[in-house]
Amino acid sequence: MEKEFDRSVSLTSSPSQSKENELLRISNLSIAYESKHANLLALDNIDLEIGQNRLIAVVGESGCGKSTLALSIIGLLAMPPAKIMNGKIEYKSINLTALKEKDRRKFRGTEIAMIFQEPLTSLNPVYKVGDQIAEAIAVREERKNDRSMDLESEVMQRTYKVNAPDMPSRLPRFKRGGLTKLLRDEVLQVLKQVRIADAEQVIDRYPFELSGGMRQRVMIAMALAQKPALLIADEPTTALDVTTQAQVLRLMKELIDEVNTSILLITHDLAVASQVADRVIVMYAGDIVEDSDVYDLFREPLHPYSKGLLSCIPVGSKDKAKLKPIPGSVPDLSKPFVGCKYASRCPFAMEICSKRSPRLVEARPNHRVACFLYSGESR
Ligand SMILES: Nc1ncnc2c1ncn2[C@@H]1O[C@H](COP(=O)(O)OP(=O)(O)OP(=O)(O)O)[C@@H](O)[C@H]1O
Ligand SMILES: [Mg+2]
Repeated sequence: MEKEFDRSVSLTSSPSQSKENELLRISNLSIAYESKHANLLALDNIDLEIGQNRLIAVVGESGCGKSTLALSIIGLLAMPPAKIMNGKIEYKSINLTALKEKDRRKFRGTEIAMIFQEPLTSLNPVYKVGDQIAEAIAVREERKNDRSMDLESEVMQRTYKVNAPDMPSRLPRFKRGGLTKLLRDEVLQVLKQVRIADAEQVIDRYPFELSGGMRQRVMIAMALAQKPALLIADEPTTALDVTTQAQVLRLMKELIDEVNTSILLITHDLAVASQVADRVIVMYAGDIVEDSDVYDLFREPLHPYSKGLLSCIPVGSKDKAKLKPIPGSVPDLSKPFVGCKYASRCPFAMEICSKRSPRLVEARPNHRVACFLYSGESR
């Protein structure tokens, strides 16, 4: 039976974006967590492009590397035990992996922002919601000045061999509790953008005075206040009830064009991905195993792992007893591996699968898969 999913999603996105609307390009990225005893390979030669104004979902079982991918993009993996073994992450053609932390920081929040799973751990309990959003705005303005200062300085040094003068900060340093009219208006605007109706009241409340759904909207508001071109949301709705989850997901989808951003939505829930994403990336054990337009993936998944994931989703009246969990578990990523990492769980495994690792190839237009069933290679 064909799976039901939201057919209102855009069908125009493509896994391989054209160069001009490309926002982020990850090439050959491997990341290991190092310890005295072993190195755990959390990302294994990942290749990925993200275009502008897209909602891309990254799905896969626990431990497959979704958060590691998110943290590497936002630049929060720059210290041990995580180590970039090889590859690069380019944002608007700037190689982020080659930057020093002080330069990398300028992209965080302002260009690439992230919202985390549990808003209470990210919101400061002792400051009012409005103050926290205002601080995000103030940080954005300071970074903007900082970066233009760097660019100006670079140009002047190159052109005139002199240093640029210090530029005055446009915003006076932000003080909590005393928002200027200008700042307060912008905070209200951002709160309204995330569909908080009583923004005038919410601005003066503390996080513990809000419901879970409202806190998650405030987190999205804080991220949006920095006007990022890419918003990474790592399991943003798992702590919410089903109705609130649907509202927050719908909101994220609407914001894509409204605020001109792309969203990388990380979820272990394929049903969530089907509701909002343009494109879905399926990860397994540190690999991208399938990368496809959402419609194609749900109509006809190619990788046996994606097929397995799909048969675990309860759809419509499907009898729960008929759901088929994938037998076995993700392999130990700290051990060296030969062959396809999914082979031991795969009902279609062939001889070649235990010998060589399949490459991600375009099996259909805009549909990449890493599996020997589609690579055209024989046993
Ligand atoms: N700080 C760390 N130190 C050592 N190993 C880590 C660390 N963070 C993650 N790992 C390991 O890296 C692998 C990938 O983890 P990651 O958190 O990226 O997975 P995930 O797909 O986000 O899982 P989940 O769905 O449970 O959040 C796992 O084997 C995990 O145990
Ligand atoms: Mg995670």
